[in-house]
Amino acid sequence: MKIHGCGLGFRDSFFDTIFDYENRIDFIEVVPENHMHADKSERKALKRICETFPTVAHGLSLSLGAVGELEREHLYELKKFLDRYKIEIYSEHLSFTSLEGVQSYELLPLPMTEEMVKAVVKKIEIIQEILERPLIIENPTYYTVLSSTMEEPEFISAILEESGARLLLDINNVYVNSFNHNFNPYRFIDALDLDHVAYCHIAGHLEYRDDLFIDTHGMPVKEEVWQLMRYLRKKKLLPVLLERDNNIPPLADLMMEFERMRRICDETGA
Ligand SMILES: [Fe+2]
Repeated sequence: MKIHGCGLGFRDSFFDTIFDYENRIDFIEVVPENHMHADKSERKALKRICETFPTVAHGLSLSLGAVGELEREHLYELKKFLDRYKIEIYSEHLSFTSLEGVQSYELLPLPMTEEMVKAVVKKIEIIQEILERPLIIENPTYYTVLSSTMEEPEFISAILEESGARLLLDINNVYVNSFNHNFNPYRFIDALDLDHVAYCHIAGHLEYRDDLFIDTHGMPVKEEVWQLMRYLRKKKLLPVLLERDNNIPPLADLMMEFERMRRICDETGA
């Protein structure tokens, strides 16, 4: 399955209203962890949604960069979930979320080193084998930099090249990291091979302090992030998806922001 155009992150509160926008939303993204243990009626509702919209899945707890083994039970459950809803496209964060089996659901950063590239590539191979699907990895936000020998674009590119995985490029995360760690977000995008990007995320963040922005996904997308998206789309016509995980407004309100994203896509190309 190939996705195109403008997507929306699915939230439980959209169950009843999302069908009103069947002709506006090109694809949706669901979080497996939110639905893996659903009851019969929720499964039925989700199945109908996945049959109506092209659907991708975005995981939260694979802990790709954790020391130690992958949690295979979780992977087997994930495979069942993806098979049940016939979802072919699956992504996870390039971070770690658990330590010695204890799950934090926090996306913690990885040391950006050659050793970590090798460790992540090995895990990607196992994940792809179990899921029988290619993996897509997402660039996360980070608030501290662990001892690293590589710049982030170099680190990401090395993993993509060595594993064959593709990138879910979160434009808001690039912007938030660029502010917090003082780099140019446009040069970050220039440093990536966009042929390796599957699709993009866009979301809102909180300007928490003069020297700290936080990736909350709880408010509208900032102007600077729309600008960065415009820049990216002029370089390559990648699909984009609006994420909103907190302070979730009624879908009709969120669709106004979605339509802004759509207008930028229309301005920058088909
Ligand atoms: Fe994201």
